[in-house]
Amino acid sequence: MKYLITGGAGFVGSHLADKLHREGHDITVIDDLSTGRYSNVAHLEGQERFQLIIDTVLNNTLMERLIRDTDRVFHMASAVGVKLIMEQPVKTIETIFGGTEVVLKNCSRYRKRVLIPSTSEVYGKGVEVPFSEDNDILKGSTSKHRWAYACAKELDEFLALAHWKETRLPVVVIRLFNTVGPRQTGQYGMVVPNFIKAALQNQPIPIHGDGSQSRCFGHVLDVVEGLAKAIETPDCFGQVMNLGNSEEVTIKELAERVVAATGSSSKIDYIPYEVAYGEGFEDMQRRVPNLEKAKRLIGYQPTRTLDNIITDVVNEFRATLKSESVKA
Ligand SMILES: NC(=O)c1ccc[n+]([C@@H]2O[C@H](COP(=O)([O-])OP(=O)(O)OC[C@H]3O[C@@H](n4cnc5c(N)ncnc54)[C@H](O)[C@@H]3O)[C@@H](O)[C@H]2O)c1
Repeated sequence: MKYLITGGAGFVGSHLADKLHREGHDITVIDDLSTGRYSNVAHLEGQERFQLIIDTVLNNTLMERLIRDTDRVFHMASAVGVKLIMEQPVKTIETIFGGTEVVLKNCSRYRKRVLIPSTSEVYGKGVEVPFSEDNDILKGSTSKHRWAYACAKELDEFLALAHWKETRLPVVVIRLFNTVGPRQTGQYGMVVPNFIKAALQNQPIPIHGDGSQSRCFGHVLDVVEGLAKAIETPDCFGQVMNLGNSEEVTIKELAERVVAATGSSSKIDYIPYEVAYGEGFEDMQRRVPNLEKAKRLIGYQPTRTLDNIITDVVNEFRATLKSESVKA
């Protein structure tokens, strides 16, 4: 099978590329390396059945050719992360919605299966926990830029479902909850790599707010299994489905577990939201996925725990720090 993975040099996309390539499929990655890294796919380049194209998904001429010549499309390219969204709201909206429009238009033209990742952010200020795919959704006003990410992804969802409704385009929408593991950088505000990096350097661990907000973290290797299954499951076409892990942890407890796992002497540094993100920033207190639909449609059952995630990321950071100190 031939797979096109947009954003395939990014965190989730590169793990997906590894999995599918290992299984013997042909992989083409298109990535503009804006938040992704060449090093995530360097080990694949030069191997048979792998091609890396450094360009943007907004290049319609190129995308038309790539989609015509493939069997399946995973559209993982996106502007990602709350920090990036707060700093570059125009680019965020244009990349997310513009990119998805190009992908869906060409998938529709050539009748190709496509998976569109959305995000738990679309649940907004949701108070009905756990979050189920059919919940009503409440978000903040358009003057609060943090909601731009969620709204752009929601528009992606509407467009994907519209293609299914009008012409039965085989499209699956997956709402990813916090996904973590090796290769994720802390550069754009991702909490687990940031905490681990700080802990390994015995630096203060920065918690936004009082740390009582909770999240659920899915291991990237569980998540890519789910993505690969979803695109092969016709019952998923025209559906929106949560994917992640429902093990809930407060951010304060996460910091404490990271400190314990690393044997760090780091202290916790509580930073008010307004200082981290500017005046009027809004966050949700809890974010827990209801995974019943994923279990029913694709038999999804994550096998890796938060402790597995922390161990894997700590090992990766330790190896990187070691090789940097050898080079210095
Ligand atoms: N990681 C998570 O916790 C999480 C949670 C919810 C949703 N998601 C979604 O999963 C997908 C992958 O996210 P990720 O965590 O791997 O982030 P990532 O930033 O590592 O990956 C995104 C990739 O897209 C590339 N990209 C951005 N704009 C592009 C463009 N115009 N053309 C080509 N490539 C472009 C980036 O360089 C990067 O490699 C995104 O759609 C994201 O919204 C991720």
